[in-house]
Amino acid sequence: MESKINGLTVYTSENKNNQPIIFVHGFPYDHTMWTKQIEYFKSDYFCVTYDIRGLGASEVGDGQYTMEKFVDDLFKIIAELKLQKPILCGLSMGGYISYRAVERNQDIFKGVIFCDTKSNADSDEIKLIRANKIKQINEEGLDAFVEAFVPGCFSQNYRYEFANNYNAVKSLSKTNTPTGVKGALLAMISRGSSTPFLSKIKIPTLHLSGEFDEMTPPDKMKEDSKKISDSMFEIVPNSGHMSPIENPDFVNGTIYKFINKKL
Ligand code: MLT
Repeated sequence: MESKINGLTVYTSENKNNQPIIFVHGFPYDHTMWTKQIEYFKSDYFCVTYDIRGLGASEVGDGQYTMEKFVDDLFKIIAELKLQKPILCGLSMGGYISYRAVERNQDIFKGVIFCDTKSNADSDEIKLIRANKIKQINEEGLDAFVEAFVPGCFSQNYRYEFANNYNAVKSLSKTNTPTGVKGALLAMISRGSSTPFLSKIKIPTLHLSGEFDEMTPPDKMKEDSKKISDSMFEIVPNSGHMSPIENPDFVNGTIYKFINKKL
């Protein structure tokens, strides 16, 4: 079912009485990146996903976003849908939102799945790279940015073997607005670090990292995972940064095991 909450387009599966899982997508994508997870989990779980403000079908507004606003949005959805102890699952930028949400109030979550993400803030070098991406969108347009950015998110193998899927994701990214995409870049540039909080996380976590993820490499994810008292770390074989799309069977099976073992 599709609904609007606070300007955000929210998608829910059928049975509200099941354990909720809320999926938060990466940048510059939308909720459809979780299609294979929702298909797998929807009969036994209440699956919730949404388009982050400024992306997909959600409100764009003035593009003045912060990570705090993105977390406010997530909390608003949880409150409006009256989700009891949801499991949170975020990829990359969705993971930054998840880390900060846990830092603000971990007690409301049953557990968290971090996919291809990291707890630290942007280094000065990365801030400059992002500033150049904003410049590129202003000077060359959003399509040029997407053409340059999206290939680095997928493994070479996926781009060739699953060219149709890959091209569909890339085309969909181009339907975002420049204002929304630049707003998300600004929110990422200006976010703080959640690394000092890792040792205070008490709820169980699962960290999934694509074998060939160059944006958030497995070593970096493992380092974050080790700082959390109750965490599991798994490398997703044959996958780049977009592991839920690139190797859904492994990702779904590992999430299933995590939930059954730890939650
Ligand atoms: C994402 O997948 O959400 C982005 O790669 C995050 C980022 O650029 O840091």
